[in-house]
Amino acid sequence: MSERGKFITFEGIDGAGKSTHIEWLANWLRQRGHGVLTTREPGGTPLGEKLRALLLADDMHLETEALLMFAARREHLARVIYPALEKGTWVISDRFTDASMAYQGGGRGLAMGKLEALEQWVQGDFQPDLTLLFDVSLEVAQARIATTRQLDRFEQEKRDFHQRVRQAYLERAAAHPRRMQVIRGERSLDEIKKEIEQLVTSNCL
Ligand code: ADP
Ligand code: TYD
Repeated sequence: MSERGKFITFEGIDGAGKSTHIEWLANWLRQRGHGVLTTREPGGTPLGEKLRALLLADDMHLETEALLMFAARREHLARVIYPALEKGTWVISDRFTDASMAYQGGGRGLAMGKLEALEQWVQGDFQPDLTLLFDVSLEVAQARIATTRQLDRFEQEKRDFHQRVRQAYLERAAAHPRRMQVIRGERSLDEIKKEIEQLVTSNCL
């Protein structure tokens, strides 16, 4: 039987550098002979992608939003993440439960106790092997994503919302110092890649 794959999640506000480095890490691991699956939340399954479209576009009660995030996650775990890890494939996800704590908890103000109950229901004690939290100032993040494309429901939120999300992420990282590593995302791409290489080598290989 092959060894279980590792589960690595990338977190941070939009524009922090997650997608750029996920692609790079997946290739780096593949070059070292690992099978790697990259995925994202909300989404990652056909049903999850339908829920994502609703979540990013439709106005809804904050608890509905949290429940749909975790519903999509349950599907993602059952159909994609757990089977891949069992086969020995590494899974890298663009966001996971820490995002619910940061956006629905920090951003929207939903009680952490409710989110923790959902976390326990949906994933029990399962946690990523490593979470890389990309931390950048709102100014840098905004400058990076300033494009002509239409902003989704979360991106349209005001500055205060994103400030609370950033703060909640940092608090979560402080509470889980082994699993969550904060990457200062304002540095050069080369410096960040070197740090990711070191963190993955020492925590997962
Ligand atoms: P996210 O997935 O967190 O929203 P992206 O990886 O898509 O962020 O990055 C947003 C933009 O910022 C992209 O155009 C990317 O090339 C650029 N970028 C990411 N990291 C850096 C960095 N360290 N230095 C300069 N530009 C960066
Ligand atoms: P993302 O894929 O980062 O958006 P984009 O394609 O624009 O880069 O994530 C979509 C949004 O969903 C993002 O603004 C954060 C939000 N989100 C939550 O609010 N809670 C969650 O649990 C997750 C996974 C994402």
